[in-house]
Amino acid sequence: MEISNCTRLLRRLLCGGKQAPWRTLCRRRGDCAAAALLYRKHGDPARVLRCESVQLPRLQERSVLVKMLAAPINPADINMVQGVYAILPDLPAVGGNEGVAQVLEVGSQVSSLKAGDRVIPRDAGLGTWRTAAVFGEDSLLPVPKDIPLLAAATLGVNPCTAARMLSDFEDLKAGDSVIQNAANSGVGQAVIQIAAARGIRTINVVRDRPDFEQLSARLRTIGASHVVKEETLRSPQMKDLFKTCPRPRLALNAVGGKSATELLRHLQNGGTLVTYGGMAKQPVTVPVSALIFKDLKVRGFWVTQWKRDHAQNEGSVNEMLAQLCALIREGKLSAPACTEVPLQDFREALERSMQPYTSTKQILVM
Ligand SMILES: NC(=O)c1ccc[n+]([C@@H]2O[C@H](COP(=O)([O-])OP(=O)(O)OC[C@H]3O[C@@H](n4cnc5c(N)ncnc54)[C@H](OP(=O)(O)O)[C@@H]3O)[C@@H](O)[C@H]2O)c1
Repeated sequence: MEISNCTRLLRRLLCGGKQAPWRTLCRRRGDCAAAALLYRKHGDPARVLRCESVQLPRLQERSVLVKMLAAPINPADINMVQGVYAILPDLPAVGGNEGVAQVLEVGSQVSSLKAGDRVIPRDAGLGTWRTAAVFGEDSLLPVPKDIPLLAAATLGVNPCTAARMLSDFEDLKAGDSVIQNAANSGVGQAVIQIAAARGIRTINVVRDRPDFEQLSARLRTIGASHVVKEETLRSPQMKDLFKTCPRPRLALNAVGGKSATELLRHLQNGGTLVTYGGMAKQPVTVPVSALIFKDLKVRGFWVTQWKRDHAQNEGSVNEMLAQLCALIREGKLSAPACTEVPLQDFREALERSMQPYTSTKQILVM
């Protein structure tokens, strides 16, 4: 389907204005359609994703009809469409793993959700880049309605990743410090804010850029203790920094290559490097001395696996989300810097999301 048709479809399907409400539309037609960003083969996202009309299945006893409200474009979404991610849905598939939706209608046996609730995906692979969907009740988690829309749309992956990494590897106390690269990423901004709320200092490494001072100021505004360029990690300036800040016990690596090795160099003896991303597409090299003389631990983290491991323990997932929502309400955790893009402009959003130095998350709004 071409964009113009897609736009017409979106106008026809979206609730509001003078259009028939969604429920009326579904009932009158006996079935429902939605606009979705679908891919039938792996490749360059801007080429292989198309806005198509997809038929929605009829509501079953335990399923839920939702209207998607907003969904981010994350690096993992891109990798999934490219076919280079650890989990790949069967094709054709709808892109997007994260987002927030509003429940429009629930099946007769649904007990945990009701019309009007806001929900986010429980697991990866749901396909969130669409105007509406029928999902199983179990595939959704409710989120409070008083959480800002963009915070809800970006809650389920990056802040959860940040929160787990700050809790599950080292017993960090107020006054301790953490070092991280890609500090301006969605995860990085969540790390800064969650750490600051706990009194943990952050040393934030970003790539140099013409607007470094502006970026540095923005990261400090949300709680960054120190913001340094990649090059600075190899300079004597770091000695000065450690005169007033303890050496970190935890290093968070989303980049790999030299950047990860430099993080290791600044860790305390016995500290931990957690790798959760590989934006530079280069392996992590660990100097032998880091293992022998500093006894550093080298670990990995994948929030999808954490959620799957804790799927039977509903309490731990809900508790984490409740803690994050409390921070959001207290003004201590906000969505990363975002650019909202109408769904039909998805190609530009995809291209922008793959550009370096943008420092803003593309959010598709439906
Ligand atoms: N393991 C997990 O559970 C988990 C969960 C969430 C995210 N992740 C991963 O975490 C990473 C960040 O995700 P996000 O959503 O927070 O990202 P994001 O908001 O889209 O930001 C991307 C970040 O990557 C940096 N970057 C891009 N290419 C780079 C390169 N070649 N070398 C160094 N830095 C580069 C960008 O820096 P510039 O501004 O300098 O371009 C930016 O800081 C991704 O790899 C993602 O897959 C993993």
